[in-house]
Amino acid sequence: MSWFPCSGKSNKKSKQKPIDDQIFLSTEKLKVNPSLGAKEPALGVKKEPSSDVKKEPPVHSKDNSKNGPNQISAQTFAFRDLAAATKNFRADCLLGEGGFGRVYKGRLESINKVVAIKQLDRNGLQGNREFLVEVLMLSLLHHHNLVNLLGYCADGDQRLLVYEYMPLGSLEDHLYDLRPDKMRLDWNTRMKIAAGAAKGLEYLHNKANPPVIYRDLKCSNILLGEGYHPKLSDFGLAKLGPVGDKTHVSTRVMGTYGYCAPEYAMTGQLTLKSDVYSFGVVLLEIITGRRAIDNSRVAGEHNLVAWARPLFKDRRKFSQMADPLLQGQYPVRGLYQALAVAAMCVQEQPSMRPVIADVVTALSYLASQKYDTDAQGNTRLAPGTPPRTKRDVNKNQSGGSDKDQYGGSN
Ligand SMILES: Nc1ncnc2c1ncn2[C@@H]1O[C@H](COP(=O)(O)OP(=O)(O)OP(=O)(O)O)[C@@H](O)[C@H]1O
Ligand SMILES: [Mg+2]
Repeated sequence: MSWFPCSGKSNKKSKQKPIDDQIFLSTEKLKVNPSLGAKEPALGVKKEPSSDVKKEPPVHSKDNSKNGPNQISAQTFAFRDLAAATKNFRADCLLGEGGFGRVYKGRLESINKVVAIKQLDRNGLQGNREFLVEVLMLSLLHHHNLVNLLGYCADGDQRLLVYEYMPLGSLEDHLYDLRPDKMRLDWNTRMKIAAGAAKGLEYLHNKANPPVIYRDLKCSNILLGEGYHPKLSDFGLAKLGPVGDKTHVSTRVMGTYGYCAPEYAMTGQLTLKSDVYSFGVVLLEIITGRRAIDNSRVAGEHNLVAWARPLFKDRRKFSQMADPLLQGQYPVRGLYQALAVAAMCVQEQPSMRPVIADVVTALSYLASQKYDTDAQGNTRLAPGTPPRTKRDVNKNQSGGSDKDQYGGSN
């Protein structure tokens, strides 16, 4: 299933033009899936920012000035250059392996950049035309919370994608199974990551035209740059996988167990709200430090959402939900509010879940309220927050709201 079907869809290899001829495709040839409600036929980035994303810095849409507004440009890489960059896909360059194939770190001399190269599993991949159309579409999406797709290689039967390299790896690497020498994520960093990931999703839902349903949002697909700057990776990649009755596709269409919205799992009904559900699961993982699915836990706690649902109903139980690795170092109201956002996102009824723009508003606020973890239990304002006098603090403690009790951090 694709939400960017191309008109004149064809697998006929005999009619295929040489790959290089297809580097520039007119977006006018591409039809929009009407079920997604997009109004304009051309794919790209909406010109008018919607009211709920006004505060965002400008989106880095591709400069198409050379090719005209309706043309897509994407960089092609020769297979030999990618092989050279990864020392012939040597094991010590391997970053990891996921459902689509292996990811290698490499240095591409032609662009003088360290990159991540994803070598797609060749079994049953789509034909050239579909592959190129999808890649070119994805290469149009640019936002500071999306991992940049730099280009691709489609030499022979090879299919590789070249991404910007994310030096801190995935969010999953920072939440679970931490080595003793690895720093645990503090509350502020968690909120920064959650807010940034929500902004990436908001771009896909509200700014990309037609909207892109991510459908595989999970902690391993949130990659981290310097300063823990989060970026979503693999958006839209599900479309590049095998087609037909290959076993792989059924698992991809279903997303990842534990993150999948109930209506999507049961009826295949895929909407923007399915992504909001998956985002809620990720947010819960960020807050609780528990995996979406963890069969090593005691019965009743395997599924994170099922474990959390009864706890959401009782505010007094909220503190039990905080990741023990936080060691109590979080703003109490901030925790409540973040859990309230997660609870709304994972509601059974899609219509009850918020739109991602509202999630961004809430999480951006929470991320802006810095909590000072150095204060060893005495919550106080972080550097950069206007200083308060001791008298102010005393006044607040004696008669102030709980906002003040929690160091104004929520
Ligand atoms: N651009 C990148 N920069 C740095 N590391 C990356 C990059 N892309 C992927 N990785 C790393 O490569 C590993 C495998 O990623 P991959 O996307 O193939 O698998 P996954 O995210 O676990 O599952 P899925 O196939 O469902 O996305 C992950 O550990 C990820 O951190
Ligand atoms: Mg991935």
